[in-house]
Amino acid sequence: MTLMELLPSLTHSLPPRTDPKLWPDVSDRQLAWIAATFGTPTYVLDENTVRDQCRRFRQALPHARIAYASKALTCRAVLRWVQEEGLSLDVCSAGELAVARSIGFPAERILLHGNAKAPEDLKAAQSYGVGRVVVDSLHELDLLTDQKVLLRVTPGIAADTHPALATGDNGQKFGLGEADLEEAVARIGARPDLTLEGLHCHIGSQIRHVATYEQAARRMVALIARIRTPIRELDLGGGFGVPYTSDEPDFDLTGYVDRITRAIGYECARHRIPVPELTIEPGRAIVARAGITLYRVISVKHPFVAVDGGMSDNARPALYQARYQPRLLRGGPTAPMTLVGRHCEAGDVLATDIPLPRDVHPGDVVAVPVTGAYHHSLASNYNQVGRPALIGVRNGLTKVLVRAETEEDLLRRDVG
Ligand SMILES: Cc1ncc(COP(=O)(O)O)c(C=O)c1O
Repeated sequence: MTLMELLPSLTHSLPPRTDPKLWPDVSDRQLAWIAATFGTPTYVLDENTVRDQCRRFRQALPHARIAYASKALTCRAVLRWVQEEGLSLDVCSAGELAVARSIGFPAERILLHGNAKAPEDLKAAQSYGVGRVVVDSLHELDLLTDQKVLLRVTPGIAADTHPALATGDNGQKFGLGEADLEEAVARIGARPDLTLEGLHCHIGSQIRHVATYEQAARRMVALIARIRTPIRELDLGGGFGVPYTSDEPDFDLTGYVDRITRAIGYECARHRIPVPELTIEPGRAIVARAGITLYRVISVKHPFVAVDGGMSDNARPALYQARYQPRLLRGGPTAPMTLVGRHCEAGDVLATDIPLPRDVHPGDVVAVPVTGAYHHSLASNYNQVGRPALIGVRNGLTKVLVRAETEEDLLRRDVG
């Protein structure tokens, strides 16, 4: 056999290379140790990556308020890191607020969101004294007293994302249309206990094109000019796209900052209004790449490799046809395989057509990258499976952040 013939088989036998765009700096040895010690499935979260992302946003926009959208991943540790990094916080429910409150997250740095805030959500927000409530309906104004508010508007922007994640176009449930916006401004004007701080929009999630944000920024400034009421703050929401596979590009944050600050400056000058303070709300971009999910292979029926988790810990393939690039924690000549979960649905597929070692067998550990955002927070108990633990790592050290849910936990709720 010539060297040229030997080379491909040799390189195939090496452990798979990891793409730094997708993987945090956590060694395979540590991942294998976590799987052996804490069991599988398990979410792993790299603290350094979360903190680095917070700093990246702060450095890119030093004068803006960066509010972490906690729906991406809520737990005390993450909120503590985010607080220490100087970020503000976006919460969407009394539950998310309770976690923030439990670690003493400063109330004035919290925004409460939601298209259908329940009275309990508003009560919790008011009792903690959250900085701002982002109002999403006229009715909500009647439920608020002594509060600084932003008004969420529908900017009428069709974003380049999955339809379920597009939240800025007309004909979906979020935000106030133009007529309702004017009515809301008038009602707030007649209410001395309410202060209109600013306007908000969120055009969607997993947005890749900066131009879409620029369009939204121009539209929002035009609306601020139209309502002829002093507005201090413009909140352009979150949605910054994140690559899940090597062929997807990273979000151009520098380009975003450049284009939206120019667009806002230009439009404000054109309308002769002061430039508002900027707020943005990244969620996914802060935590996604910090997360890895570890599974153990349970059975192999070529091309199907079935693992001990699935749609209960990762709802994204079923919800958004999301793609992933998993790998085994060991090398070997590969063949295309389909990674499936353990749940009772043919749609419980984690990744199709991915190269895995041909001799993959029960007991092997599979690692799925970019699972820090909307995995733990979207997890369910389908098939009465307990939700996995969340294990924090930092510089080679390991800490349980959220313990795994047990059968006892599940039975405790079932009081009938
Ligand atoms: C109002 C609002 N802000 C911010 C976000 C965060 O979006 P992402 O995690 O894509 O940055 C969301 C996500 O749904 C949202 O609804």
